[in-house]
Amino acid sequence: MHSPELRAALASRKRWLVTGSAGFIASHLVETLLRHGQEVVSLDNFSTGHRRNLEEIKSAVGDAWRSHTFVEGDIRDLSMCRRVCEGVDFVLHHAALGSVPRSINDPIEANESNVTGFLNMLVASRDANVRRFVYAASSSTYGDHPGLPKVEDEIGCPLSPYAVTKYVNELYADVFARCYGIETIGLRYFNVFGARQDPNGPYAAVIPRWVQALLTADPVEIYGDGETSRDFCYVGNVVQVNVLAATVARADALNQIYNVAVGGRTTLNQLFETLRDLLALHAPEIAAARPLYKDFRAGDVRHSQADISKAQRLLGYVPTHDLRKGLREALGWYVNEYGGSELASASVR
Ligand SMILES: NC(=O)c1ccc[n+]([C@@H]2O[C@H](COP(=O)([O-])OP(=O)(O)OC[C@H]3O[C@@H](n4cnc5c(N)ncnc54)[C@H](O)[C@@H]3O)[C@@H](O)[C@H]2O)c1
Repeated sequence: MHSPELRAALASRKRWLVTGSAGFIASHLVETLLRHGQEVVSLDNFSTGHRRNLEEIKSAVGDAWRSHTFVEGDIRDLSMCRRVCEGVDFVLHHAALGSVPRSINDPIEANESNVTGFLNMLVASRDANVRRFVYAASSSTYGDHPGLPKVEDEIGCPLSPYAVTKYVNELYADVFARCYGIETIGLRYFNVFGARQDPNGPYAAVIPRWVQALLTADPVEIYGDGETSRDFCYVGNVVQVNVLAATVARADALNQIYNVAVGGRTTLNQLFETLRDLLALHAPEIAAARPLYKDFRAGDVRHSQADISKAQRLLGYVPTHDLRKGLREALGWYVNEYGGSELASASVR
């Protein structure tokens, strides 16, 4: 993650606010910014994030940790949002309640953090005159639109309360740019994966859930026939695009939405085989694992694949990791956490 492009974009020291920093994606943003000598304020309420993620960054970045101020707080509280926005150049807003099924179970809770919290962050950023507000949007906004690959301006009807909240984020960001002149960029993530993504709980994402299941010899459940497909995106690509979005100079790149993925398409059956084969290099018994097929899940989109040409053209985004390369980087972390001592001493190639 120390590419020349990142180094150039982060050549001068700025003050960044990263929300959701005890969670998966934002913890990687904080880590990279600190490694590049930036000053970072970060916020989380630990609703789905973990203190151990912050501890991990701390031990990874050494002295640079002193350039980080963590605030435990909630984006549903406007005064808290105002407090953390003070003196900030760039906001990378990632605090939200993820997961389609969680939002189906509790749409009010999803709305409070993802819509009210988002609006609070926009208002606080506007009033603090931050230079730019970059935020996590979602590929779920494509909803029932059948087109593949997905292009930014062709969306369908949302299929879940979560998708509604993420679409509302885009509408609010656009209106704030028009009404108040704030610069915003929305990043529609497509199934991000990497170290520190939580495998536990009913709302865990597919890659960490399956990796943990394979490592602990638990059943891997596939919802549907396994031919559902996704454009899995390694978190290193996501870090790169956040930095580019915050620092890009060209005016036509601003107040836009971008797909963030690799442009590939992998079925769940293919994903299962890839994970099984990579992990079996270290624990041969995993080679015999077979998935358990269950019913399709409500709200899930059947196929998802991004056209990433807009981010390539306007932001200069060049994904550095495809699925396999990303998994090779990420799996070592899961093996260490969940693989037991024999596995942890072997590295994943
Ligand atoms: N992971 C993906 O594949 C993916 C895909 C599309 C969009 N996104 C979006 O990216 C962002 C980060 O996702 P992630 O996968 O890292 O999830 P995560 O759950 O690991 O991180 C989200 C963090 O936000 C915090 N948070 C939630 N509500 C909060 C509140 N009210 N106040 C303060 N903090 C709060 C949580 O405690 C957590 O640490 C989210 O906005 C998510 O919707 C993620």
